[in-house]
Amino acid sequence: MDPNSSGLAQKLAEAGQSHLLQFWKELSPEDQRDLLQELQGIDFQEINGFFKSAMETSSSSRHEKMDARMEPVPREVLGSVTRDRESLKDWEVKGLDCIAQSKVAVLLLAGGQGTRLGVSYPKGMYDVGLPSHKTLFQIQAERILKLQQLAERKTTAKCCIPWYIMTSGRTMDSTKDFFSQHKYFGLDKNDVIFFQQGMLPAMDYSGKIILESKGKLSMAPDGNGGLYRALGNQGVLDDMQRRGIEFIHVYCVDNVLVKVADPTFVGFCVQKGADCGAKVVEKTNPTEAVGVVCKVDGRYQVVEYSEITLATAEKRSSDGRLLFNAGNVANHFFSFPFLRDVVQKYEPQLQHHVAQKKIPYVDPQGRLVKPDKPNGIKMEKFVFDIFQFAKTFAVYEVLREDEFSPLKNADTQDGKDTPTTARHALMSLHHRWVLNAGGHFIDENGTRVPAIPSLKDGTDLPIKCEISPLVSYGGEGLEELVKGREFQATLMIDERGVHELVRNGV
Ligand code: UD1
Repeated sequence: MDPNSSGLAQKLAEAGQSHLLQFWKELSPEDQRDLLQELQGIDFQEINGFFKSAMETSSSSRHEKMDARMEPVPREVLGSVTRDRESLKDWEVKGLDCIAQSKVAVLLLAGGQGTRLGVSYPKGMYDVGLPSHKTLFQIQAERILKLQQLAERKTTAKCCIPWYIMTSGRTMDSTKDFFSQHKYFGLDKNDVIFFQQGMLPAMDYSGKIILESKGKLSMAPDGNGGLYRALGNQGVLDDMQRRGIEFIHVYCVDNVLVKVADPTFVGFCVQKGADCGAKVVEKTNPTEAVGVVCKVDGRYQVVEYSEITLATAEKRSSDGRLLFNAGNVANHFFSFPFLRDVVQKYEPQLQHHVAQKKIPYVDPQGRLVKPDKPNGIKMEKFVFDIFQFAKTFAVYEVLREDEFSPLKNADTQDGKDTPTTARHALMSLHHRWVLNAGGHFIDENGTRVPAIPSLKDGTDLPIKCEISPLVSYGGEGLEELVKGREFQATLMIDERGVHELVRNGV
């Protein structure tokens, strides 16, 4: 085991990365073997090329220039749940029809590290504290199951929505174990397909790869746009082709309200003949951490919240709304031929984005240093960077309160996008479903609770209501269970029936 005889030392020298071997002699034989293996798997010239072009594209003057080239999404590509009410049913029927023919797959991006939430396990395994204590993975699995049932009512044949789950090196084993322990939440094991995205090393500002210990590189997942490389090199595209998949709904793991394989969104995109589509909510606060869907130089793109200038984020149109208000909720639609072209032709053209980070490193004396200000970069591709290649692009605007409540941060007082906000968003949606289906809530004295109850202590909802996705995907089918009835919160409706739990007893 010698880096010199294998030619590795030479390769590293040519790439200006010889420092990675500086502690070689101090390593145990096992650590030497692991390091050698890790280094042999890396194409250093490619990484250096990524670094160079990522640094060039990320310079702030380029951002300012980009701001001048941004235009909002034109009305003609925009469908809206509020403005196009008369078309919603048609779109839904179209989408369900595609699902019934097993042409629709869902693809979950779950390779992130959940740093902001601060958990050591995959975010999908998180329990936001609903009465049922279901995890994000379970909620999503049950929505898929329900949708399959709804679609099957349209045909006599069984249908299947395959679920492709992208994990990273750090989340793969725990994700797979979790699904296996929970028997795939009732889904067919063969229709839940895991695959793994790539990793990239963190680099200092001069392009040197950072060592996180004497024998280990600092590695991180290559961003959710790592999807496209992984789809090709892990055989996922071939699997889709074998199954006859024509449309793919891609989404992020953290949105508790996500409408997995949303038939209305799918049907809308299909009817528009789109090869690529994005779901958005109206962005109302200039500093909200969502990307905005827009056009740059005439091509569709998401300008990420970390990359837009405040001046542009604050621009308003004549009606007083934010000019760039198509907030990206990270729900995308792709036709299979488009996805195949991206994987086979366009992926290498995608640029990495740069995130400046505080990256722990070992100094030349071999001591671990935890910097208190950013000392290097991580490079990531973004899933939406392929919008630019779309021939027909469609944007679908939905209501935030119905569809978007992401879990990003740990609970703090007045925190945003926390377990508490996610739990409240889901229960208040389900509360509205019950009211819309003709049910009512009463308090402990038997008095009807107003439809818009006041929040007493600001932290907890007065009405707690959770409806299993196995009972209702989007609020449908509840009349027979709730119409004309009065309930005391906490109300839970699941496949076993309607349950009122003792107040504060959950
Ligand atoms: C993301 C969107 C942002 C959008 C916001 C809405 C991207 C790049 N940005 O931002 O435009 O407004 O969601 O909530 O999509 N992931 C991977 N591999 C990685 C990194 C992330 O699979 O290497 C997955 C995560 O598991 C997660 C999703 O991608 O499901 C989004 O990642 P996150 O870093 O949370 O994105 P945001 O910055 O919140």
